[in-house]
Parts: sequence; structure tokens; C-alpha cells
Amino acid sequence: MSQSNFAVAGLGVMGRMVALNIERNGFPVIAYNRGEENADRMREVSKGKNVTVTRSLQEMADQLDRPRRVLIMATAGPGTDQVIEELRKVFDPGDIIIDGGNSHFPDTNRRQAELDSSGIHFIGCGISGGEQGALWGPSIMPGGHKEGYDHIAPVLMKIAAQTDDGPCVTHVGEGSAGHYVKMVHNGIEYGIMQIICEIYDVLRKSVGMSTVDIQRVFAEWCESDISGFLVEITADCLAKQDELTDKPLVELILDTAGQKGTGKWTAQSALDLGVPIPTLNMAVEARILSGLKPRRVQASGIFSNSDGQYSGDRGELLTSMYSAFYLSKMACYAQGMALIREASSEFDYGVNLAETARIWKGGCIIRSKLLDPIKRAYLADPELDNLLTHKSFYEMTRRRLTDLRKVVMLATETGVPATCLGATLSYVDSYRSEFLPANLLQALRDNFGAHTYKRLDREGIFHTDWTK
Ligand code: 6PG
Repeated sequence: MSQSNFAVAGLGVMGRMVALNIERNGFPVIAYNRGEENADRMREVSKGKNVTVTRSLQEMADQLDRPRRVLIMATAGPGTDQVIEELRKVFDPGDIIIDGGNSHFPDTNRRQAELDSSGIHFIGCGISGGEQGALWGPSIMPGGHKEGYDHIAPVLMKIAAQTDDGPCVTHVGEGSAGHYVKMVHNGIEYGIMQIICEIYDVLRKSVGMSTVDIQRVFAEWCESDISGFLVEITADCLAKQDELTDKPLVELILDTAGQKGTGKWTAQSALDLGVPIPTLNMAVEARILSGLKPRRVQASGIFSNSDGQYSGDRGELLTSMYSAFYLSKMACYAQGMALIREASSEFDYGVNLAETARIWKGGCIIRSKLLDPIKRAYLADPELDNLLTHKSFYEMTRRRLTDLRKVVMLATETGVPATCLGATLSYVDSYRSEFLPANLLQALRDNFGAHTYKRLDREGIFHTDWTK
């Protein structure tokens, strides 16, 4: 029996790749793009395949089996609103619109509310994996009404990355849950990437290792418990030689990184919800600092850099570095999961964190070996507060904390910024402190603003006249 067809609207690189993935898995595809260029590219790459390319939304709607299903692959923002608005005119109640872009979750809430009145199902769907993932199997994070999800699940199950733990897709939760979880996925992505970069920086500046030697370290880590996609591509990036100069290409790349917004949204939402995610936040700050290149160049001339280098045993240091990376990477997942947990409760998403870890095990940018024990921890204890203090990880946290401290100290002593490594250390140190200096903070607030304070030794709210 032939499968019902499926539409993809927006045929940029990601749209084209997803369309080919859907077709390869046995579903006829109606591919729509208003612009001629992308429609032509789609025609080229889908020659001989069961793909019909059209530049008319009406034609796309007319050709779709019911309920109609369309996946929008447009750049997040007003472009997505425009396509939805046009789809509304040609779709009927019961049809399903999926937004597969990196949309900001409040936009997803708004769009869902607007479409609910028309009876059209709206699924805000995070998709991770870049171009190759889109073609061969991404991690897919759909959210929204379960009824709408059930209509698209057979297709998503097939096109998602396949692991020994099942396809990397699940109904993430209600409302904007899918885009929220994808946003936090990206926040974690920022954190892990920045930690990798700081390790690279400490190894080259504080230890004086060459790019070739650092590459070997990451290549070795690919075979270890901290392996994962980002570690693998770090080894690849460090190995790449520039064709023009024969030097490692990374040494020739400008040290300024941009961002599209998902990391910043993660930080903003965490502040709104009162969830500490310092490692992820500092990764956003680190990108902003990287953008201040002219000012950094100027300041580097003012402050001399006579910071010295590591003179101890390199093997020992690399063992500590591995531990520091392990703990910091775990902290990224721990902070991200804690944020999703809080958001799920605040926004009634109903997110299952074990399932979230499972669908991140393949296809996505933050896939890594650590997600397996993380999944098991949430399966055993779905309400778990913080991964780092869970019984399956606290021994690891305690053991590796000393190494993280050593690495941060080395960076500090040699004047190398360890923005995220340092933030992770302070996060763990704060989290494990029975007493923080917020006692003094409360006194200060009460002193200048009569904000009152509580006491350790008795119940009640107190105010003191501090001037007497
Ligand atoms: C993915 C990626 C992808 C993209 C992000 C991050 O999961 O496939 O996260 O969505 O790389 O948009 O982009 P920025 O680093 O530019 O914010």
C-alpha cells in the first residue's frame, strides 16, 4: 500500500535535505518554495525520485492526502508567520502544520493559539543535526497537541536518527515544548563548544602544545567516555590543513564567533524562571566577548602578558583536563535539564526528561555517550533535581572536582580566560555550599532598603536599624 504523501515548505539546504530524507523513507513528497532558485535546486537533486516540486501553495494543498501534513523549513521569524498565514487560507480543520525552524518558544505559543481557532493542528518542532542530520537522520523534538503529533509520528519515526534505543523522536510535550527543548539543546551546545574551546586555549597557551598535539588529545578522547559528536568534529577541525599555507586551518581563522539567538534565549528564559545555568550563560558571554576583537587587540597592548607556562608533568595535566572536561560537560547537561524541568512545570509541558536524553542520543549536535547514563538516572528518578548530585553521579562529581579546580587554577595563573570552566567550578562550589555569603547580602539589602531578612536561629521576618 502506498504511503500518504507529505509536504515540505521552504527548500533551502535544510528543507531540501529533509525532503530527500522523507522520500527515501517511502513517503511521496510535495516540495514547495515560492522562489525559483530553491525550487530549481530541489528539482535538480530529486530527479527520478518521488518528489513533486511546486511554487504554488494552492497546488501543494490540492495534491496532499488528508489530513494534509506540511513541514515548514523556513528561517525562524516573520518568514514563518507569512507561510503559516498563507497555509491557513488553503488548509482545512484537521490538517497539520509543523514548524521545523529554530523558532522562539513564545512565537510558537502565539502561533498555536492563532491556529487553534481554525482547527488546524500546529506542531512546533525542534530539529537538530545540521545538513547531514537532516538528510540521514536528525534528532526531532516535536511539541503541541498529541492528536496532531499522532498524524505525523509515522513519518518522523522513519526519518529520525535510529539508535539501539529507538528513533530519536518523541512527543516532547504540550504547547511550545518542542521548541523550548530545542532552544535548551542549543544552550547546551553553546556550553559544550565553549568548554572545548577553553581546553584548546589552555593547552596551547598555558601548556604550549601545538595544534597537532592538541588534535591527538581530542582524537584520543573520541574513544573515551566523553566522546560525542562535538568532540569528534573538534578532532576533525584541528586536523584540517589549509591548502594555501599548509598550516592547520584553525590557526588562520578569525577569533570572533557569531550567534543566531538560541543561546541568548536560553539564558533569558533561565533568568525569568530563576534557574541557575552559569556555564551556559557564560558561553553566550564568551561569544559576545569574542566579538570585541578591535577592543581586545587594543587592550592586549595595554596589559602586558607575562603569565608564564605550565612546567609540570604533561600526562598528569591531560588526565586532569579529561576530568575537568567530563565534569563541565555533565554540568552543561545538568543545567539544561534543570531548566527544562522547571519550564515544564511552569508551562505545563509535561516533558519526560529520560525521553529527552534518549532522543538526544543520536542525530543531534549534543549527542554523546554521557546521555546514556543521564537517561538512566532520569528513568530511575524522574523528579531528580540536579544530575550532579544524583547518586549515580555524585561520586564522579566529587572525584573530578579537584581536577577541574586544578585546570581553572592553571588557566588563572597563566592568564588564560576559562569563562565556562570557571563558571562550572563556581556552580558546583555554590551548589555544594551549606553556607553562601547571602547572609551579608541580606544585611546589606536591609540596611539600605529595609528589605528585611530571616535568621538562622529563630522564625520570623526581621528588620534592623543598622545605623544605630
Ligand atoms: C542544530 C544546531 C543548529 C544551529 C544553531 C546554532 O541543532 O542543528 O543547533 O540549529 O547550529 O542555530 O546556531 P548559532 O551558533 O549561530 O546560534
